[in-house]
Amino acid sequence: KASLRTRAFGRVLRYTTSTLSTNADALLALQQSNATPIPHGSVFLTECQTAGRGRRGRTWHSPPQGNIYTSLVVLPTPGGTRVGPWLSWIPLFTALATADALAATTGLPISVKWPNDLLIDTKKIGGILCEQTTRPDKTVAVVIGIGLNINAPLDSFPEELTAGATTLAVEGGRPVDRVALLAELFLRLEQRLDRLLTDGPTGMIDEFTQRCSTLGKTVRVSLEQGRIVEGVAESIGPDGCLRIRVISDSAQPPASSLLEVRSA
Ligand code: BTN
Repeated sequence: KASLRTRAFGRVLRYTTSTLSTNADALLALQQSNATPIPHGSVFLTECQTAGRGRRGRTWHSPPQGNIYTSLVVLPTPGGTRVGPWLSWIPLFTALATADALAATTGLPISVKWPNDLLIDTKKIGGILCEQTTRPDKTVAVVIGIGLNINAPLDSFPEELTAGATTLAVEGGRPVDRVALLAELFLRLEQRLDRLLTDGPTGMIDEFTQRCSTLGKTVRVSLEQGRIVEGVAESIGPDGCLRIRVISDSAQPPASSLLEVRSA
């Protein structure tokens, strides 16, 4: 039977059968945390979201019937070490830990599309949305939101999404035990955050590079003010940025320069 093997992650857990968005719930709870303290590692978990949020203002479709929608609270100084210097690594270490947990539980080949889409081949099985808020004591806390397509039937997604998405149950041919997966996920997240805080991101760059399906490929990125850059994704920089060898840039005449892209 699966059991929680973490110190902090998931030890306080708020479970609902439905909510607007677990990220919104966690952010609100943090803003009100002088009334009810929210410990580091607190988890918000739901079966179904009616206003699930994706990156870049998109909607995250969150049907019931067996997926995972969860948000995890990271406080600024867990165990006394400041998270601040490594903030830009939070989306990437989360993607790495989640990919590890999914691969370990299902045996499926999971890859990461920079900065933090979870894929099987080219199909999306999960996404991550990190948001920050200021607590009543003026310190900044981070909410890590993770949405995973696990057991919910693909036809419960809108038609325009089913082409680009898949689920673990479809790929593996059998339903996945979500409790075991969550226990593995919280453990991997906690261990990776511990390592990030003690060793910094150096080792993580290599590991991310190995899991990342983006590197070596030609990518097209939309930047601010409609700027579109096409180029070859070359490497991950020291703050987790993606370095692109530019082929064409709508804002500038083509030049073979190296552009560093940071996730919004
Ligand atoms: C993306 O790929 O666009 C990120 C999707 C993140 C979805 C998760 S589900 C749990 C948490 N609550 C939300 O409203 N969003 C995140």
